[in-house]
Amino acid sequence: MFQLSADGKKKVQEYLKRYETKRSAIIPALYIAQQENGGWVSPDVVKHLSEVMELPMTHINEVLTFYTMFNKKPVGRHHIQICTNVSCSMAGGHDLADYLCERLGVVDGEMTKDGRFTISRAECLGSCDTAPVIQINIDDYIENVDKAKLDQLVNQLK
Ligand code: FES
Repeated sequence: MFQLSADGKKKVQEYLKRYETKRSAIIPALYIAQQENGGWVSPDVVKHLSEVMELPMTHINEVLTFYTMFNKKPVGRHHIQICTNVSCSMAGGHDLADYLCERLGVVDGEMTKDGRFTISRAECLGSCDTAPVIQINIDDYIENVDKAKLDQLVNQLK
């Protein structure tokens, strides 16, 4: 059964006080909970947040299902998201995603058997002029990626 840490709970309470409506605190609360739950938001997480935030589970689920940055199933330690929106797609984003999936023996969105990686395609990551771009976990962005750079990264990530 998922429970936020004392620190996580405190941060969620602070967000609840900061915003005019409780619903505005759902996104930051989901970020905290996802991080504390190994990178994904399980039904247990939603139930716990609903209790802590005193909000119906449906309100949390609406936000959870709308935003792609929240994972609805377990992900590997390194969640590599490859942008395949217009600029990145034109610069080879789909080829990179296909290449990496084939190298790791997974399909899009699947976790490797050793739990190291999940590869997914993402919408625009906000740096179209340095396409193709990838994101690793929450805040690591890498620009101008090619197959050699991808190989180097995958070899480094344990
Ligand atoms: S299209 Fe890939 S960063 Fe914008």
